[in-house]
Amino acid sequence: MSSPLDYLAREQSRLVDDLCQYVRFPSISAQPAHGPDVLRAADWIAARCRQVGLATTVYPTAGNPIVVAKTPPVPGAPTFLVYGHYDVQPPEPFELWTTPPFDPQVRGRDLFGRGTSDNKGQHLAHLNAVEAYLRTGTPLPCNLTFLIEGEEEIGSKALYEFLPAHKEELACSAIIISDNGIPGLEFPSLTYALRGIAAIEIRLNGPSRDLHSGLFGGTVENPAMALCQLLAQMRDADGRITVPGYYDDVAPLSAYERQQLARIPATAEEYRELTGSPRLFGEVGFTPEEQRTSRPTFEINGLSSGYQGEGSKTIIPSWASAKLTLRLVPNQVPSRVIAAVKAHLEKLCPPTVTLTVKHGHGGEPYIVSPDGPLAQAALKALEAGFGHPALLTREGGSIPIVSAFQKVLGADTLLLGMALPDDNAHSPNEKFNLDAYAAGMRMAVHLWPRLTEAMASRSA
Ligand code: BES
Ligand code: ZN
Repeated sequence: MSSPLDYLAREQSRLVDDLCQYVRFPSISAQPAHGPDVLRAADWIAARCRQVGLATTVYPTAGNPIVVAKTPPVPGAPTFLVYGHYDVQPPEPFELWTTPPFDPQVRGRDLFGRGTSDNKGQHLAHLNAVEAYLRTGTPLPCNLTFLIEGEEEIGSKALYEFLPAHKEELACSAIIISDNGIPGLEFPSLTYALRGIAAIEIRLNGPSRDLHSGLFGGTVENPAMALCQLLAQMRDADGRITVPGYYDDVAPLSAYERQQLARIPATAEEYRELTGSPRLFGEVGFTPEEQRTSRPTFEINGLSSGYQGEGSKTIIPSWASAKLTLRLVPNQVPSRVIAAVKAHLEKLCPPTVTLTVKHGHGGEPYIVSPDGPLAQAALKALEAGFGHPALLTREGGSIPIVSAFQKVLGADTLLLGMALPDDNAHSPNEKFNLDAYAAGMRMAVHLWPRLTEAMASRSA
């Protein structure tokens, strides 16, 4: 009988075809018109789980369905939970895609399509590894629960409600997530920290309607100008956020962490190229890798005010607004940071306009010790799967549900990404590297015996 690794090598091209089928559903959670496609994607992954031999339930929710699938029970063995999401980001602007986002195509060693790496390909790799165990009659050493949701890209609302109600069904010793990246195929890594996020929207109201800028200009406040001046005060020339107390809870990087991050091979110039920016800008005293993973930010995501149409219109706009997100790092608390920002904005806002602040979605930052036995086991599995020693990394993105897993299920998360830095997540021409797909599957094969052993040594 062949081993799971042989099986995967043999089945590779069919497993790529499977991913293509999955990617063809435009399961865009942000766009209500795609509701039926979201449901079809949930049904597809549920059917695939059943085909592999997992006991699978599709739970309807107030939002998008949640799929829970369990491997055949191994009594007395630990249980691990594999999380992923079948929803994807909107593909717009379409014209920047070389091939259509939901018509997946292979070019070189890359499979292009929206959702290929974020996140369909990454959790499918885990399911494929389970298939390899079950089809070759190789006993799985542990129990696995797959939890695949459809609202990650819009804040996981349904899953937050689902978790406490399904606590027993989802009970586990640890959570494994592959919904993040690695610095390169030769640099597999265990990601032990994620940034959190807090979204807010601010609006400045001025005159009761747009006014003629000739008749009134110079006598009343221009809300767009006031907004620019207000926001410009939030950051200094050294890239430090000026909100009092903003850095109070920021855990400094240890010398060991800085040394680990410095092992990542990207130079500042390569990093600049990847961003397509004329020049990098970030908080003085930190490398780009430190800035993007371990320091908080204050970002303007969108600005609106005044006339946006063709030609000119001589007005003083009645209002101006900005969508902001703050990326947060351990041990910042979203509610505290938002309160500090709000107080600072209110203090600096001139009396010539009125300020309103609306809160949006949020998620706590996450950090887990990379020293524990499970983390060490994961590092070994990464090395075995990718053929290179694994690094310890932190990530700048957010997966807000991870802190809820810790609170509700009492379990830590290990992040074992398969995406590459040039995979274009959330951008046009998203792709997934097929060698990363294959290495990710091999890693997943190696993972379960090692994690199970680590659990045994922990309780011994
Ligand atoms: N897969 C990403 C998160 C991610 C990317 C983590 C890279 C680590 C490295 C996820 O799908 C995502 O985009 N999350 C959103 C969350 C937000 C909508 C609350 C994010 O980070 O913007
Ligand atoms: Zn995403």
